[in-house]
Formats: sequence, C-alpha cells, structure tokens
Amino acid sequence: MLKLSFVLLLGFWASLSVGRLTTSGRDFLYNGQRVFLSGANIAWYSYGYDFGNGVYQSDVKETLETWLTMIANSGGNSVRQWVHVEGQNTPAYDSNGYVTGPDRTGTIIDDMRSFLDFAQSQNILVIFVLWNGAVLENQNTINLFYDDAKLQSYIDNALKPMVAALGDHPALAAWEIMNEPEGAILLNQASDNPCFDTTPLANTDASWTGLTIPMENNLKFVNWQTHAIKETNSASLVTLGSWSEHAQSDAYEQSRNYYTDACLLAAGGRSLGTLDFYQFHTYTYTGQWDPSEPFKVTATSYKLDKPLVIGEFATVCGGPESSPTLFQYSYDNGYQGVWSWSYNGGPTGSTCCDNQTTQDSGMLQLKGQNNGIGGAVNFPIVP
Ligand SMILES: *[C@@H]1O[C@H](CO)[C@@H](O)[C@H](O)[C@H]1NC(C)=O
Repeated sequence: MLKLSFVLLLGFWASLSVGRLTTSGRDFLYNGQRVFLSGANIAWYSYGYDFGNGVYQSDVKETLETWLTMIANSGGNSVRQWVHVEGQNTPAYDSNGYVTGPDRTGTIIDDMRSFLDFAQSQNILVIFVLWNGAVLENQNTINLFYDDAKLQSYIDNALKPMVAALGDHPALAAWEIMNEPEGAILLNQASDNPCFDTTPLANTDASWTGLTIPMENNLKFVNWQTHAIKETNSASLVTLGSWSEHAQSDAYEQSRNYYTDACLLAAGGRSLGTLDFYQFHTYTYTGQWDPSEPFKVTATSYKLDKPLVIGEFATVCGGPESSPTLFQYSYDNGYQGVWSWSYNGGPTGSTCCDNQTTQDSGMLQLKGQNNGIGGAVNFPIVP
C-alpha cells in the first residue's frame, strides 16, 4: 500500500512538473524551478502569413529560425509570436464567415510544431498570440466578436484541433488570445456592471482602430477561447496582452482590471475561461514614463494575484534608460518577465521598435542570472 502510494505520488509529481511552464501564486515554474521570462517579441516575419496554407517554408522558416538562434545566443528564453493576426491567411473562413478549419490546406499545425521544435532546440519558450486587436481590418474576424455561432465555429474547428495537437509541446509556454484588444473597443461606454464600463479609460489613448467592440463582447471572446483551450488541455496557460497598465489593474487612476476572473466569467459564463498571468505593454511618446507605468513602479504595486509580464516595450518609445537597465529593472522589481518590441524591426529598427542590437543588449544583461528575486533566466527546455 505504501509502495503503491509512493508510485502514485511519483506519477502525480511527474505529470505536474515535466516539460511545462506552470504558475504558482505570482511565480512561473519550469520543471519545478522558478523562472523569469526574458526575451523578445518576434512578432512575425510575414505579417499574418508565417503559418498555414504552406507559407512556412524558405525565407519565412529560415528567418524565424535565424532570429530564434540570435535570441538564444543573447540569453533570451522566450518569444511572443503571432499566429492568425487579423485573419488574412488563417483560419479558414467559408463564404458565410464560419470557420471550417485552422487553415485551408492543413499545414498550420505542422508549421507551428516545426517552430516549437526549433525553439526547443534553442531552449526558448513560445507564447503563441492568436489575434491582433491593435490593427483589425478583416470583417470575418471582426464578426467573431458579435456572432456566437461564428465564434463557436472557430473554437470547434480551428482552436481545439490546434490545442489538441500542440498543447503538450515542452516549448509551448502559453496561448495568448489577443494582442491589445483595447485598440478596437468602444470607449466611454457606461454600464451598471463595472466590468463592461469603459468610462475609466475615456481619457486614455485606447481605441485607435475605429472599431467599436463593446468591452462585454471582447471579454466573452476571451472567456470562450480560454475555456476551450483549457477544456482541451487543462495544463495550458493563457494570457492577454493589454496596450497598457490601464486595462489590467485597479491600482492607479483611469485604470480598471477588465480581465479578472470575475469579469471574464460575467461576460462569457464559461467556467474555465480565466487567465493564468497578466501582461501589459508600455510605451511613452514624451521621453518620460508616466508615474503608473511599469518601469516606474514595482509589479506588486498593481495589486494583482497572478504573475505579471511586461509584454512589449522599446527604448526608442521609452524613457531615457537603456535596454539593459530596463531588463534588469524588470527582473529586480517583481515582474515575472519582459519582452522587447520587436525582432522583426530588423537591424535598424522602425517606429517604436528597437533594433536587434539594442534588444540583444537587454537580453544579454540577464543572461545566466538566477537569484532569489527574479528566478532562473536560462534553463533547459526538456520533456
Ligand atoms: C540600434 O539603435 C541604437 C539606438 O537606439 C543606435 O545607437 C544603434 O546605432 C543602432 N544599431 C544599428 C546596427 O543600427
């Protein structure tokens, strides 16, 4: 009996800890070791056309693998990589706007697996971002926010098959439902339910796309997909990258945490559809960070109950500090990760995009660090 319990316990421990990023309170663990996610947004090579319908070959694959290698050589351990983006290439929509598959020709899952395999060979974890709310022009994708049957067709015919095939890959850190949904939401909409009331954001720079998706619809979109991911693979982690701290914390002025468990459940009603870690982005156009921005405060000041990653920043749209200073600041001040924007900016960078040399210098600053405050930066990605 004792022997049997021991064997059962071992099995339980192995299933919990092997080849997988997990959370514990406000920490990340990988194979049981406390870790800090240091890395870069790639975030695409060919916008919307990195995976699916046979596009992951020749220059796309070669370039993405070259960048993964460069990030690894700089000490980076994680990348944020976009999948459907606006829906130009994938998923497969029929002529009525229902989703019939993850892509039309059936390559996307192998493409993503190939990317994960290569990332694993470089000891890099991958966060796959499904959608983009910062630029969103595809009407079929916009319809998913308004039409339950269409959203459900995406979940059943595209998302669940992707998660079923890839959900246990050792290099898959997390799924992110969407980049910066706040670009597409209806601002200044009052509601009796504080979760759906966007008046706190009225004087921020949210809502720049011209779309007017009610916050309730946005939260349901997130809740349903998150639920489906966890229903398919219960150990999956899910996050969402907000455009700033204003949408994922109640701690400062003109801020509301719309992505709490309670708000996601209130909007979508699906019980597994809650996030595992918070993530927001930070840019400034004045040369000085605002007082509530992450590089000015500690992570705990946001009063969140889950890990928090600074999901995007660039020194060219930042304060006066260097990339190494900001990577080290993140590590020392209670954040559980930091990802620079963005590796596809190329050697010279572009608007609000650091060049690769600058990003490498930030990752190099943290290479090999492992202390009681931040956790391990470099660790093997093993099954
Ligand atoms: C990268 O950007 C920094 C400033 O942000 C600049 O000083 C440096 O020359 C750039 N490097 C390359 C290779 O363009």
